[in-house]
Amino acid sequence: MRVSYSKAPSAKPDMLVCPVFDHGKKKSIDHPAVRKAVGKMKKDKLFQAKNGTSVMLYPSSKNLPKRLLVIGLGKKSKASETKVRNTLAKLLKGYQKKDINSIALLTCTDINQYLQAVVEGMLLINYNPAQYKTGKNRKKVQETLFKSLTIVGSDITADERKAVKRAQVLSESVDVVRDLVNGAPNHITVDAFADKAKKIAKKNKYSIKVYNKSWITKKGMGALLSVNSGSGSKSARLVVMEYKPKKKSKKAPILLVGKGLIFDAGGYNLKPSKYIEDMHQDKAGGSLVVGVFNALKALNINRRVIGIVPLTENLIDADAQKPSDVVTSYSGKTVEIRNTDAEGRMILADALTYGIETYKPEYTIDFATLTGACVVALGDRYAGLMGNNESLVEKIKKAGDNTDELAWKMPIHDDFREAMKGKVADLRNIDDETSSMAGASKAAAFLEHFVGKNKWAHLDIAGVAYNKKPKDIDHPFATGYGVRMMIDFLENC
Ligand code: BES
Ligand code: MN
Ligand code: ZN
Repeated sequence: MRVSYSKAPSAKPDMLVCPVFDHGKKKSIDHPAVRKAVGKMKKDKLFQAKNGTSVMLYPSSKNLPKRLLVIGLGKKSKASETKVRNTLAKLLKGYQKKDINSIALLTCTDINQYLQAVVEGMLLINYNPAQYKTGKNRKKVQETLFKSLTIVGSDITADERKAVKRAQVLSESVDVVRDLVNGAPNHITVDAFADKAKKIAKKNKYSIKVYNKSWITKKGMGALLSVNSGSGSKSARLVVMEYKPKKKSKKAPILLVGKGLIFDAGGYNLKPSKYIEDMHQDKAGGSLVVGVFNALKALNINRRVIGIVPLTENLIDADAQKPSDVVTSYSGKTVEIRNTDAEGRMILADALTYGIETYKPEYTIDFATLTGACVVALGDRYAGLMGNNESLVEKIKKAGDNTDELAWKMPIHDDFREAMKGKVADLRNIDDETSSMAGASKAAAFLEHFVGKNKWAHLDIAGVAYNKKPKDIDHPFATGYGVRMMIDFLENC
């Protein structure tokens, strides 16, 4: 969406949006007629600005659009960025229709400390998940999107412009993730995914390497290759991106690793109907990493960041891995494949070993739609958060609280570490005996065997990355979970 600024409202936009607090300083509304109208409604008890309420006015002034949407944000003392973002998103969704293309936001000194959240709410809903419709069908969906947003205010400060820019960069980056995750697996193939990462790297002048299968083979990444073995001509890739801040720093980098499963059919432990249809979402962790890279330079993040995404499908053919196969991972540790559907941990294992060995990061964080068990435990509200370093885990949890991308701490018990040890090899990818118990934690325990003593955290995003029942800021399907949280983390870690 195009975003521009204007000192005073005009009649041009299709709708002017004016968010106000209950008992807020009406004086602060940056337009005398609007101020008066809101004041009168309050006096007449027609509109009290309770959070989530709104009224549509149809001003006859020639300097105002024909629609003026006044949005209540509730009491300022009870406000939060999350509440403001959600309220804007929820209410504006109701006006995403054909005849409303251009919108304007009337700023107000009273709400301007929440400007980023206000604009995020407006931008995050402006997304079309139906990428593949054509002709009339496409037009119909496109028509519902806002095309332009004008920020109106007589005295918009540099900080306020910065807040708007942050909202723009973040929501654009969330959309990068949503597009990748929603991408059909015959469109977003391993190469198309890597190309998107390359495009972002080129635009921002990051260095990027996309390693192919022969490189992966030469390196001995047997865990990634094992998952890829059933994919025929559909090859494996390892994407490695690097962002360096302008201001040089000697600090060790942050390593972000994301699961890039283009499609997870399960392999010979084939997924049944109802579990297989949406497994193109299984690249959400890797997509999150690419989304973060889309934002790093624009937000001038002051930290070196490495992003690694192992890419493959998990399919079946004569060469596919089988339960009872034993493979040698890049670390040298051998793994018994006890279930071909526990593939995410395999590809992450090699990516983690490689990333830690090559870049010696201060912190390593991985993101993966890793287990159905995590969805059962935490639903679509919390990601599962595990790790081997309490302070890192706590920092990630805090970042998620700040951006309302919530994560809930789960334990890794020594028993779970033990349960992932193999009978004939060093490790096994599921514990046969009690595989239905503590699945999210045991997957993390498996990963932990590959990070050694390095400070590491793992986010299981299986429940939060993709939703058929969208939250206020989302439309159905990919949510783009994690980008805003990770930027918050990188700014504060
Ligand atoms: N990609 C799935 C997990 C998943 C489930 C993601 C639901 C998104 C929504 C993962 O590869 C998987 O198949 N996990 C297995 C692990 C099991 C074999 C131990 C699962 O959860 O069933
Ligand atoms: Mn699987
Ligand atoms: Zn998977």
